Amino acid sequence: MAFDRSGAQGSQVLVASNRGPVSYTAGADGTLVAKRGGGGLVSGLSAIGPDAGAVWVCAALGDGDRAAARLAAGGHLDPADTGGQRVRMLDIEPEVFSAAYNDIANSVLWFVHHLLYQTPLAPVFDDRFRHRWAAYEQYNAAFAGALAQEAAEGATALVQDYHLALVPGLLRKMRPDLRIGHFSHTPWAPPDYYRLLPDDIAAQVLRGILGGDRAAFLTERWAGAFADCCAEVLGAEVVREGGGTAVRYQGRTTRLGVHGLGADADFLRRRSRQPDVDERLAALRAQVGPDRKTIVRVDRTELSKNIVRGLLAYRRLLERWPDWRGRVVHIAFAYPSRQDLAVYRDYTAEVRRIAEEINAVFGTADWQPVALHVKDDFARSLAAYRLADVALVNPIRDGMNLVAKEIPVVSETGCALVLSREAGAYAELGEDALVVNPYDVEATAEALHQALQMPEPERAERGRRLAAAATALPPQAWFLAQLRALAG
Ligand code: G6P
Repeated sequence: MAFDRSGAQGSQVLVASNRGPVSYTAGADGTLVAKRGGGGLVSGLSAIGPDAGAVWVCAALGDGDRAAARLAAGGHLDPADTGGQRVRMLDIEPEVFSAAYNDIANSVLWFVHHLLYQTPLAPVFDDRFRHRWAAYEQYNAAFAGALAQEAAEGATALVQDYHLALVPGLLRKMRPDLRIGHFSHTPWAPPDYYRLLPDDIAAQVLRGILGGDRAAFLTERWAGAFADCCAEVLGAEVVREGGGTAVRYQGRTTRLGVHGLGADADFLRRRSRQPDVDERLAALRAQVGPDRKTIVRVDRTELSKNIVRGLLAYRRLLERWPDWRGRVVHIAFAYPSRQDLAVYRDYTAEVRRIAEEINAVFGTADWQPVALHVKDDFARSLAAYRLADVALVNPIRDGMNLVAKEIPVVSETGCALVLSREAGAYAELGEDALVVNPYDVEATAEALHQALQMPEPERAERGRRLAAAATALPPQAWFLAQLRALAG
């Protein structure tokens, strides 16, 4: 039985995350259309099979989700929409949800962990912030309450990410019988930066996560930063025990763990050979033109992804090594993200402006230097992965960055990877990538030049090693490793 592989025999598994495995949109006639999402958690959870009583608790994100959540009996979605998975979608009041998700999770906690503040101007923690923080508490309480209701005696709850930092502590109080783990998909801020948060809130977030039995991260670096924050902010004791690290605080011990989520090689190889991807590949090839190399990037249009400096580096490449003009195309996919936030809308506009400027300055009748696409299309992303000679992954800071792991797996030519040392993926891929400081545009331009010039055999050899490292812990193994560690 698949469930036994978890090592948590007999224990029901619950997952909690803001974004669930399915989302709904209302069709023209008002009927709701369900769309299954992808990603590590969805394929990870599939490792335990739908018959094991697992429940996924998530939030209704938009109007379609809210309508579906209201129609669902007790908040449990129709299993026909979820591939048999039991999913409970929480219909949280829109104002509370928006304050918790947009204003706190994505504008405060995300910014802190990705070091995104322009500190002379932001952040400002005033009464409005306190009001929004109360909404974040309410939203976390809704999740904890739902988990407490859904959990069987002795169940295991895996709580995901910065949206739900308070849940482990709240849930522990309601259900001391549960095994509770928290997983951070983001980086963790170093203490000096983390302490931008008001003191009581900096402490509350840490205490929330320490309410669990285990707190896990994507790399040692982020786990270490969390431990440093616990020591500095809470005065907690950080201990090494049994080959691992743990935090002791107020009579409880929370073990820290690291699980570096890898790419899903089987899925990617299969999916990237399907006809819709072939079609898009043909279209991209036509757009690029014959005998030209490609530099590919695929991101959400996210401030931390550093798309603007990536474009500036490409511009420098064309300025400094004019031989590349007409011989390379930068395929940049920048898909919409968090468009409710003005700063994301402005960033999207800036990305477009610079791409257009490069095309206006350098483009010729038969060569467009940048092919920017902003409409989310997974099949087209896979087509670009197949075509990539060079992959550019230059985030300012990133929990992992799965694109860095996916491109080497799918690329037909064994692409060269230009990789930021501030991406979690650097810990596993650093040796075979061309590593850059993401703020250094000149050095990034040099790395692009070097990547484009890399001799074929070296590129193929590095590409093979990158693909092997990238797939060391595929989603199902990643998920089961967390369960096993929590059971141990
Ligand atoms: C990051 C977070 C995830 C989140 C994703 C997309 O990877 O760690 O929790 O789901 O970004 O962001 P969104 O706000 O669109 O859910």
